[in-house]
Amino acid sequence: MGGKLCNEHSENTCFIGESWPPLKTQLAWTNAVGPFLVVQQLLARGLIGSPPAQNLGVSAEKQQQQHGEGCSTLIANISSIVASQGDQEVSSKMGGGYAYRASKAALNIINKALCNDLTASHRVESVLLHPGYVRTDLTGGLGAIDVRESTDGLFAVLTSGKPLNNRFYSYTGEEIPW
Ligand SMILES: NC(=O)c1ccc[n+]([C@@H]2O[C@H](COP(=O)([O-])OP(=O)(O)OC[C@H]3O[C@@H](n4cnc5c(N)ncnc54)[C@H](OP(=O)(O)O)[C@@H]3O)[C@@H](O)[C@H]2O)c1
Repeated sequence: MGGKLCNEHSENTCFIGESWPPLKTQLAWTNAVGPFLVVQQLLARGLIGSPPAQNLGVSAEKQQQQHGEGCSTLIANISSIVASQGDQEVSSKMGGGYAYRASKAALNIINKALCNDLTASHRVESVLLHPGYVRTDLTGGLGAIDVRESTDGLFAVLTSGKPLNNRFYSYTGEEIPW
């Protein structure tokens, strides 16, 4: 759920001396509302998780017993460390980026609500990922790593076998307090 749908551009970030015009609100919300709408639609069409019809009238506990352990779908939402309230390295020292950071913080809580709604009932799990400071169009080519290093790291996290649901990981494999 990264790339196209949970994205924005760097001019969307909003600094302390800037106004917050409607366009920034619209673009910032793309980061949070976009992934939510995608999940909602995939679920409604039975394309992720257990088919909803199967769940009618069956308690979450019962379904977990029926389905056993493990998830049927893993959602990966691309967030950012700059939206973390607990991170001591980057977020706690950084000002600015109001629109961007608020949109990713919104995505973080949407991810949590999705886990609460869908894990037990539909075996859908959802993880937040921080791709690093990557040299892309979004950063205007600035960054600490290239796309390959970021995507290799994210793939390693997703295939690591670590518990992922409702957690926030950096491409380095470190867990981020969100
Ligand atoms: N790069 C970083 O350092 C960094 C750090 C932390 C998190 N992230 C997150 O990682 C994800 C990928 O970012 P990136 O650096 O790969 O960005 P990117 O190279 O600039 O790519 C952004 C992509 O999102 C699309 N997009 C932008 N705004 C959109 C909108 N409002 N609606 C639909 N599509 C839109 C762009 O489409 P067009 O090309 O058609 O405009 C482009 O394909 C994003 O969620 C970003 O917030 C990036």
